[in-house]
Amino acid sequence: MAKERILLWGGRSQARVVDAHLRLQGRRVGYIFDYSLDEPQFETSAEFLNTPEHLSRVLSRCTGFVVCIGGNLGAQRRMISKHLMREFDLEPVEVISDTAIIDPEATVGKGVQIMSGACIGVATTISDFAIVNTNATVDHECLVGPGVHVMGAAAVAGCVTIGADATIGTNATVLPKLTIQSGAQVGAASLIRRDVSENSVVVGVPARHLRTETRIVDTSVVAKLRG
Ligand SMILES: CC(C)(COP(=O)(O)OP(=O)(O)OC[C@H]1O[C@@H](n2cnc3c(N)ncnc32)[C@H](O)[C@@H]1OP(=O)(O)O)[C@@H](O)C(=O)NCCC(=O)NCCS
Repeated sequence: MAKERILLWGGRSQARVVDAHLRLQGRRVGYIFDYSLDEPQFETSAEFLNTPEHLSRVLSRCTGFVVCIGGNLGAQRRMISKHLMREFDLEPVEVISDTAIIDPEATVGKGVQIMSGACIGVATTISDFAIVNTNATVDHECLVGPGVHVMGAAAVAGCVTIGADATIGTNATVLPKLTIQSGAQVGAASLIRRDVSENSVVVGVPARHLRTETRIVDTSVVAKLRG
């Protein structure tokens, strides 16, 4: 079998965590791309690239990819992932920690990142390119949309729906049967007792509406990639 060479898009903390999980599982990262850095922010034997021209030259050698962009940039993560799949026929790699607990009746999509100690309940769906971070819980019968980021130690109760690219801040709690609409951001340690509308930023215990914010997806770098 040809040597594995996974591409990590991003060279900061999310990449470091992904790299550590993949190494533990005997996988091999071949390339790290981050146009905002002069060098990766952690020790790695992978080749580091920081221009679209350089990345374009190695794309045909990549055997899969992970977009390591966390925070509230789910829409960006999804756009890059879809571009790599559509234009360069690259397959996303799922990053699922050996210490995560995923119920056999749960479903996980393409390119998900499910980190150490995360817990996914019965009949829950984690959609493509979502991240469930360290020690977060998403209980039974939830629908976690594409590009969502459930941050570390957040607790999402049963039967919750989270729309595309929304974020649930670290240590936040979402009560059962609620809907967090797409693009919403739940602040760290907030308590969600009511539905949250599209692109709303909500904070506090109980949560209050702070503002509405639409995030822009930047396609300038992917537009420079050539096959
Ligand atoms: C919700 C969030 C995105 C808002 O960020 P922001 O717009 O920069 O907010 P600011 O720091 O300008 O604060 C605005 C107001 O909201 C309050 N606030 C912000 N975050 C809050 C939180 N998590 N809980 C309670 N109040 C919060 C601030 O105290 C401030 O209140 P004031 O206007 O009465 O003084 C951010 O605070 C947050 O919680 N992000 C989650 C990050 C996270 O969990 N990261 C995990 C690692 S990936």
